[in-house]
Amino acid sequence: MNFEEEMSLRTDHVQVILESYLPKEEGFQKTVLEAMNYSMRAGGKRLRPLLMEETYRMFGGREEVVRPFMAAIEMIHTHSLIHDDLPAMDNDEYRRGRKTTWIVYGETMGILAGDGLLNYAYETASKAFALEPGNERVGRAFAVLAEKTGVYGMMGGQCTDVEAEGQAISREKLDFIYRLKTGALIEASMMVGAILAGADAREIAAVEKIASDVGLAFQIQDDILDVTSTMEEIGKPVMSDEKNEKTTYVTLEGIEKARVDVERISKEAIRTLDGLKVKNEFLRELILHLINRRK
Ligand code: IPE
Ligand code: IPE
Ligand code: MG
Ligand code: MG
Ligand code: MG
Repeated sequence: MNFEEEMSLRTDHVQVILESYLPKEEGFQKTVLEAMNYSMRAGGKRLRPLLMEETYRMFGGREEVVRPFMAAIEMIHTHSLIHDDLPAMDNDEYRRGRKTTWIVYGETMGILAGDGLLNYAYETASKAFALEPGNERVGRAFAVLAEKTGVYGMMGGQCTDVEAEGQAISREKLDFIYRLKTGALIEASMMVGAILAGADAREIAAVEKIASDVGLAFQIQDDILDVTSTMEEIGKPVMSDEKNEKTTYVTLEGIEKARVDVERISKEAIRTLDGLKVKNEFLRELILHLINRRK
């Protein structure tokens, strides 16, 4: 089986797991539940649950306990996209090849659907406690998920990002924003997988480093695609960063250096990955494939 076939099989498998954790669209709050599922079902690469499951497998994990966490990380990520697209943030009208949640359901429901998914993510992750009562790894994984989502993680990055609009910022600050707004959820994905599978402290630290580099490279590539792709290809508007007067890796360093750095930082992640005792060839290939991703 080649990489593309393997990727498609594994993404389908993730898809089935995600679907099994989505809330039912019923009751007086039906509209918000529909809005939550609208964006969850719009597709997307499902990269974060994939990375979580592959890291879990790499460290020998074979149980179902990872599944509620896989659903939770995709819910948190989707929440971040719903809010990122709001008029008060990036003010974008397309996402995952569809009209954004706020365009379809209105701004109020957009805010509430984002909140709804964020909270439902923790309700979902907490199901892991019942799957393996007494397994202390579940609590540790839960804590990492919470920290990497919050003000010391993704949300802190988003705050710094919107506050910097229209300003010239340093590379140091830009790297901080990228490691938080995008890196943190990728760190959570891989660290939760490692923790649940029983990785030791040194291995978890290495996984955090790998994920942080993957996240930084991923966001730089996102900036590149914002200026080089088309809406048809990426399913979201291009030139959104310019519209919002963002300093990006591309505006700061130029497109050629951005491309070189995506490769350099990704190879650094591979070096750290290759230094681990455990192996997962698919995960390694996935990280390498992200260097040239077109969506
Ligand atoms: C988009 O993430 C937001 C960024 C962190 C750049 P993805 O590119 O993973 O979006 P989906 O999940 O595939 O829609
Ligand atoms: C957003 O970065 C990262 C998060 C949503 C946390 P962007 O604003 O560049 O993401 P896109 O390009 O809208 O997906
Ligand atoms: Mg944004
Ligand atoms: Mg955006
Ligand atoms: Mg972007």
